[in-house]
Amino acid sequence: MNLYIFKSEEELDHAAAESVIKVIRTNPNAKLGLATGQTPIGLYKKLVQAFENGRVSFKQVTTYNIDEYVGLGKDHPQSFFIYMNDYLFSKVDLSKEQIHIPNGMAEDLEKEAARYETLLNQAGQLDVQILSIGLNGHIGFNEPGTQLHAETHVVELTEETRKANSKFFPSLDDVPKKAITMGLGPMMKAKKIVFIAKGETKAAILKQAFKGPIDLMVPGSLLQLHSNIEVYLDTKAASLLI
Ligand code: PGA
Repeated sequence: MNLYIFKSEEELDHAAAESVIKVIRTNPNAKLGLATGQTPIGLYKKLVQAFENGRVSFKQVTTYNIDEYVGLGKDHPQSFFIYMNDYLFSKVDLSKEQIHIPNGMAEDLEKEAARYETLLNQAGQLDVQILSIGLNGHIGFNEPGTQLHAETHVVELTEETRKANSKFFPSLDDVPKKAITMGLGPMMKAKKIVFIAKGETKAAILKQAFKGPIDLMVPGSLLQLHSNIEVYLDTKAASLLI
């Protein structure tokens, strides 16, 4: 694991974005695994800036988002599709055909999970996976539990996750109870993981994930097994790791 610690979010976002940009500049056909949430917003802003400055093009890039809420359509303001559209898709030269995200409105969710898994298998190894971690140690919506899945699956969100994500919704009741998430397989097989975390609220879970034992109750701890993971933290998030 390569650990990078930054005093400011600005520097962190810049460094993490540069790592992604390097992948795309080396391989214009790069396949990117994308995450949502508060944490990667700054990174996406830096990618958009680099595109606007002519430093990177997404024309031949394909993207695979990790997850989507069940029951939220592509027009729902809290859907991950809208998030991605607002922060990246609509601001760079990516066409609709290059973007992949699970359909949370599918009538048959199991079938949708299987469809997404087939897409990921057809894509093959992701060149870079952008990732952050939930307060309960989840990566994507791979929640802590007695089992972890390698493949895309439908997941019941934990109360902790729903509470943490209620910051994006009018109230806790509005937070969906289920999601479709990529399993751990494609993330762990990615050529590179660009992992980001910010703020003191993440310090304890980061210590468990990166300094503790590999534990199904802390899905992020599996990242210790990845051979090419770059971990970008601010000093607050890193406070219990150093
Ligand atoms: P956050 O979410 O970036 O909003 O903290 C991270 C996550 O749940 O994976």
